[in-house]
Amino acid sequence: MQKHKIAVIAGDGIGPEVIAEGVKVLKKTASLDGSFEFEFTDFPWGCEYYLKEGRMMPENGIEILSKFDAIFLGAVGFPGVPDHISLWQLLLTIRKSFDQYINLRPVKLLEGAPCPLAGVKREDINMTFVRENSEGEYAGSGAWLYKDKPNEVVIQNGVFSRHGCERVIRYAFELARAEKKTLTSISKGNALNYSMVFWDQIFKEVSAEYPDVETHSLLVDAASMFMVKDPKRFQIVVTSNLFGDILTDLGAAISGGMGLAAGANLNPERKYPSMFEPIHGSAPDIAGQQISNPLATVWAASQMLDFFGHKEWGAKLIDAIETLLKEKKTLTPDLGGTAKTSEVGDAVCAVISK
Ligand code: NAD
Ligand code: IPM
Ligand code: MN
Repeated sequence: MQKHKIAVIAGDGIGPEVIAEGVKVLKKTASLDGSFEFEFTDFPWGCEYYLKEGRMMPENGIEILSKFDAIFLGAVGFPGVPDHISLWQLLLTIRKSFDQYINLRPVKLLEGAPCPLAGVKREDINMTFVRENSEGEYAGSGAWLYKDKPNEVVIQNGVFSRHGCERVIRYAFELARAEKKTLTSISKGNALNYSMVFWDQIFKEVSAEYPDVETHSLLVDAASMFMVKDPKRFQIVVTSNLFGDILTDLGAAISGGMGLAAGANLNPERKYPSMFEPIHGSAPDIAGQQISNPLATVWAASQMLDFFGHKEWGAKLIDAIETLLKEKKTLTPDLGGTAKTSEVGDAVCAVISK
């Protein structure tokens, strides 16, 4: 029996509600399959932990997590703890410490999912974002000088290394080649005259190794316009950390909402554990009411199954999400339904058991 050891960080706000359903669904896939099993270990880290302990996770948190095959994360951040502290001490520390330099975020419109765009068919929105996840605008490099003085200055540096750009761009090319899809690079070389000029140059260099992959290069402002006006022009997309963050929330908005958007933080070499999570936050506005949508977390569970090589189960979870969207019987309020979070998890389990 193959065993997958998963560290579960449910986190804050709606995190625990949605992660409970993700765990439920993963357990169901294992019990239906019979050839693999999950061993889940819960870590109560997050903003509540911070208020008691003065830190988001223990000092040896990364060492603890390094023993696991993957991390399943709900959401981090809650009023009462400054966001830059809660996120930098937990989510961003994990991504960086485990060199999870690929953030794979599907933007796919399933049948039955609400889409605010007119005249768009299911197959028109079918993208995979490959977001750089280790450096760039999120390098955490900068300074705060003369704090609270009249001459106060802050500096936030973008850090784009050749190694960092090449590896994410090459990953995206490999994916485009394997899936026989086009690859679009999104940058902003006209204004960011060092970092994004460099990014564009490396994209061009690496593209020479992949003559079989059709490429496009877009400026981020135009790209956001095209995502709304003509989403079918995007298939595989590669972009920087910050642009990928912003564009995937836009992607969520055009493909059913935050309740359906998932992401995998991958260390492709598997030297360290990868992390799977819904891309939404802790949604303090709806936390604790059992009305949050767990389907993004189920989608992240599907990405985890793919990563472990259980691709048939990964696909079954996406099919089950689509079944619920089409039937419209068991959906949370963000998708126009009245179901509770746990009822949606139960419904996914029921569909895959059929
Ligand atoms: P958010 O994603 O938490 O919420 C944005 C909106 O989407 C809210 O109206 C919320 O109710 C709704 N929403 C989000 N997920 C939903 C779901 N599963 N079902 C139904 N509705 C859902 O973003 P925010 O309000 O900007 O951030 C709240 C907190 O979360 C902040 O502390 C922020 O820093 C943090 N955050 C964490 C992560 C993460 O842990 N990965 C991601 C984004 C934001
Ligand atoms: C995401 C989130 C994080 C990010 C925040 C919470 C630091 O918005 O995963 O999309 O910007 O990467
Ligand atoms: Mn985000």
